[in-house]
Amino acid sequence: MARRNKIYEGKAKIIYEGPEAGTIVQYFKDDATAFNAQKKDVIEGKGVLNNRLCEYFMVGLNQIGVPTHFIKRLNMREQLCKSCEIVPLEVIVRNYAAGTMSKRLGLEEGTQLPRPIVEYCYKDDSLGDPLVSEEHIAAFGWASQQDMDDILSLALRVNDFLSGVMYGVGIKLIDFKIEIGRVYDGDYQRLIVADEISPDSCRLWDMETGQKLDKDVFRRDLGNLADAYTEVATRLGVMPKTS
Ligand code: C5P
Repeated sequence: MARRNKIYEGKAKIIYEGPEAGTIVQYFKDDATAFNAQKKDVIEGKGVLNNRLCEYFMVGLNQIGVPTHFIKRLNMREQLCKSCEIVPLEVIVRNYAAGTMSKRLGLEEGTQLPRPIVEYCYKDDSLGDPLVSEEHIAAFGWASQQDMDDILSLALRVNDFLSGVMYGVGIKLIDFKIEIGRVYDGDYQRLIVADEISPDSCRLWDMETGQKLDKDVFRRDLGNLADAYTEVATRLGVMPKTS
């Protein structure tokens, strides 16, 4: 088979041209990075696990009417997706304080928030994806007011879905990050959930023990990352057989 044309290589994924116009292939690598790639490792099997978990979440979202870029999983490490123009924002939804929010506001990790809080970061690795306000987003034209209304609605629907799915298997969804893509149908633009949803981009804590089952295991040297992701995949019943 002809080698796919690479469009972009990121820290954890490679994007290739898809087989048909308007499609891309998303390849999940085993590379793990944290702190803007200052900490790096290769975690055998992580790409396979994330491909499966991402498929599980994206299929579920598509089924409940939350549009995503996901079309189908192609093999152990690749999925076929709609190509879209990525809005240059990382959209973070938080249910409990953790990570940068805990640092910024002096909140103990695990403190339940009064309601889900949505934050926006400007996607720029060289700047470390800084937190921005809707004022910045409007002033710099990164998204329109209508886009922001749609992004908020998508983010909260993803939060409801993911929180429920995780709750069902004894896991608390602390927070997560999604990216949003634009797809065009003539002059008409639609926003869809793009990129990935996986334990790389969520915080997941066991409801009973508080054990971390997400990328913080790698960021904070808390144990074996593949074991943590395997635990999530097993509970959800999406455990791949081999890597
Ligand atoms: O680091 P912080 O607390 O801001 O992260 C919030 C959530 O967003 C976490 O689940 C983290 O994994 C995710 N995130 C991400 N990619 C980034 C920044 C944060 O997936 N570049």
